[in-house]
Amino acid sequence: MNKADILAEKLAKAHLGGGEDRIEKQHAKGKLTARERVNLLLDPGSFEEVGALVIHRTTDFDMQQQVFYGDGVITGYGTIEGRIVYVFAQDFTVFGGSLSETHAEKICKIMDMAVKTGAPLIGLNDSGGARIQEGVRSLGGYADIFYRNVQASGVIPQLSAIMGPCAGGAVYSPAMTDFTIMVEHTSYMFVTGPNVVKTVTNEEVSSEDLGGASAHSTKSGVTHLTAANDVLCLRQLRELLSYLPQNCEETPTQLPYELGTEIREQLSDLVPDNPNQPYDMREVIAGIIDDGSFLEIHERYADNIVVGFARLAGRSIGIVANQPYSLAGVLDVESSKKAARFTRTCDCFNVPLLVLVDVPGFLPGTDQEWNGIITNGAKLLYALSEATVPRVTVITRKAYGGAYDVMNSKHIGADFNFAWPGAEIAVMGAKGASEIIFRREIGAANDQAAKLAEKEAEYAETFANPYRAAQRGFIDEVIYPRETRRKLIRAFATLENKVVTRPKRKHGNIPL
Ligand code: HXC
Repeated sequence: MNKADILAEKLAKAHLGGGEDRIEKQHAKGKLTARERVNLLLDPGSFEEVGALVIHRTTDFDMQQQVFYGDGVITGYGTIEGRIVYVFAQDFTVFGGSLSETHAEKICKIMDMAVKTGAPLIGLNDSGGARIQEGVRSLGGYADIFYRNVQASGVIPQLSAIMGPCAGGAVYSPAMTDFTIMVEHTSYMFVTGPNVVKTVTNEEVSSEDLGGASAHSTKSGVTHLTAANDVLCLRQLRELLSYLPQNCEETPTQLPYELGTEIREQLSDLVPDNPNQPYDMREVIAGIIDDGSFLEIHERYADNIVVGFARLAGRSIGIVANQPYSLAGVLDVESSKKAARFTRTCDCFNVPLLVLVDVPGFLPGTDQEWNGIITNGAKLLYALSEATVPRVTVITRKAYGGAYDVMNSKHIGADFNFAWPGAEIAVMGAKGASEIIFRREIGAANDQAAKLAEKEAEYAETFANPYRAAQRGFIDEVIYPRETRRKLIRAFATLENKVVTRPKRKHGNIPL
């Protein structure tokens, strides 16, 4: 055999992973192989593999008899829409994609290269966890990856797809990346699986119910997105990346866009006259952004707040919006956490923020207080206050109490604050306020209900509007809803070169 043939033979073996039978098994589960995934994720023909011929070094349990090139993970780089990205894809056909010392070294190597070159990192996870035959060396390998996840955090975008098992401590690498996408029915994530759960708590639960895509997209919020299958998951990764820059020193690519009048009449009568009647904030979003450009994050989790990426005249923006359709758009523990995390993600990658406000306040009750609405609400307040990206607010209806301050008010550093003519900006709703400040007067009246109604109307007349705030400059402009898109396009264009310098410190201490 000549030298080229020797190489060709080795590469052919590497490309087969764990062999035809195991590839068939993988396909039978409705899953693609690691190599098929990488090729679908990246621009055709752009993948350059690094470490195809790496093998493990284990001799315990006769492991020297079982050697596969690549050692259960495919690593390298390629492009997505022409942009360089680094990728690792665990190969379930080799020892169930389990993580050995060398497998971890391969991942660490491309993580280091991604950071050095300022390019995003994408991990496709499909693994039985720590390589059982390697013991603590495998655990060390995980920790080497975790450490790098943290060092890379906020420097380059890190995206994780969960495309098979992800259990034990292995879940902490995806958890420390910026986004997690889970494939429905073929992936799961949990710290301890159903068997351990049964032993310790006596609960009977399936893998799917415990840690499938549905559980993590609705109950825990661990996953940001879900996809019906591998192909859609890989497509979503490409789409998600389009809203993000290469690294924290850059801004996301602005797509070409030709401006027209940008008047959107459908926004004019979207908010009902009755302040207690809900409407769908997603329709407001659709009326503002470039058509079809909304990528909602955490869609089914804490749906009293809506967050996601969109484009405004081709520019990538992040949207945080109260959702009157769910719990009247109130801020609670979960929605505050969700919005705070998204705000910080946008801020570290220079994605400007649009905050749409229709919030009656924070949710009262023992459940909320005992679950730390104070600390969790503070997360959102903190995240917005520290964000240095361009920040624009539109109050579409209610902005009451502390939630007015929290939802990107002028006072916490927003750049432009707009309100629609129907906005109500006050300490509390007219009824509650009247019951407190006019208590004696109402108590002394013959017809107490009529007096309350009269006082309520008086309070509403005085405060349930945007003009008091506009008089003080807390609102820069009261705008016609139909002009919102145009105003926002101009506002974000004006803010493009915004620079904020902060006092020197090691890092802030966000209430976690
Ligand atoms: C070595 C493993 C492996 C592992 C699977 N395999 N997991 N080899 N180490 N952790 C091998 C199997 O021996 C098998 O080899 C092949 O991968 C496919 O596995 P199957 O069991 O046939 O596949 P399936 O039925 O789909 O089940 C997948 C599975 C199961 C649910 C992941 O394999 C499993 O439970 N594995 C063990 C999981 C585990 O306990 N891992 C350690 C968790 S602790 P052959 O040769 O037959 O193809 C952990 C700590 C991390 O990960 C801590 C980080 C800080």
